[in-house]
Amino acid sequence: MSTIILGIESSCDDTSAAVIRDGVIMSNVIASQAVHEAFGGVVPELASRAHQQNIIPVVSEAIKRAGIAKEELNAIAFTRGPGLLGSLLVGTSFAKGLATSLNIPMVDVNHLQAHVLAHFIKESEDDNDQPSFPFLCLLVSGGNSQIILVKAYNDMEVIGQTIDDAAGEAFDKCAKVMGMPYPGGPIVDRLAKEGNPKAFVLSKPHIAGYNYSFSGLKTSFLYLLRDNLKENPDFIEKNKADLCASLQATVVSILMDKLYRAARDLGIKEVAVAGGVSANSGVRGAFEDYSKRYGWKIHLPKFAFTTDNAAMVAITGYYKFLDKQFCPVSEVPFARVEL
Ligand code: KG4
Repeated sequence: MSTIILGIESSCDDTSAAVIRDGVIMSNVIASQAVHEAFGGVVPELASRAHQQNIIPVVSEAIKRAGIAKEELNAIAFTRGPGLLGSLLVGTSFAKGLATSLNIPMVDVNHLQAHVLAHFIKESEDDNDQPSFPFLCLLVSGGNSQIILVKAYNDMEVIGQTIDDAAGEAFDKCAKVMGMPYPGGPIVDRLAKEGNPKAFVLSKPHIAGYNYSFSGLKTSFLYLLRDNLKENPDFIEKNKADLCASLQATVVSILMDKLYRAARDLGIKEVAVAGGVSANSGVRGAFEDYSKRYGWKIHLPKFAFTTDNAAMVAITGYYKFLDKQFCPVSEVPFARVEL
């Protein structure tokens, strides 16, 4: 008998629902919220209101595209945290209502674990390109920069993480001071392709262990602009591609340096990347490069699974379901929760 899981994701500004049957994706519907663009970042209150509007059509569409009846679902997996509390409440409450009405169990999902397990979403039954345990996963997004030792589907250990800003935040904040809209990461990535990564030297942190820090880089980027703008008011406009290329090269080098050390120290050659920043061409290029240089077996997520999506919630729900890890209907969401 097959196992069919509905996943619901509402941790930030994407309302998403997906259906997975025995690990194979059947549908993945995402409604993004354009309402935040005018504000230069996600506005929590607007995000939860948009989730309320989107949740019913998004879930209905996911079930319809999967070609199943909702009565065929075996469980509902939902993102419990971390994320924006108001946003999480919408997905959690909806999951409770639907699970109660169908009389099926609920599975609470940690958003960070879901990003890692996105690597196990199968596109078809004969898709066997998943990582083998143990492997390292670099989780890089707008809110996180972590190195995770993945021992099993439901056994992960964070061995390094940022002590201040996340990598995506560094991209977005530096892009903002260059006058770019939010989120600036993908724009920096696009412009970096035409620039010289060695044009400007930016500061790199000296932090113990496998931890990261990006606040110094952000300050050094800000000072570089401030000092040059005094002499040349067109400095940003004239050097945009070089600034983006130098910024991207520095972020990538900071990320890869610690990841390489962790892989070397633990003797692990199977390495994955996950989260929004894993879409970055510099990060992907560095993974390819390290694979050739150090014999790493690398796992780059499909672009559809780099940003927030419910397929990753459904696959995590699937593996927790197999482990019989259910949660009571009284479960509440958490804005901050560790892996
Ligand atoms: O995982 P994600 O979708 O959600 C949050 O953590 O909110 O990650 C979003 C982050 C943003 O900071 C965005 O700028 C960054 O991922 N991002 C990128 C690229 N695509 C998305 N950063 C650099 N290059 C990209 N191509």
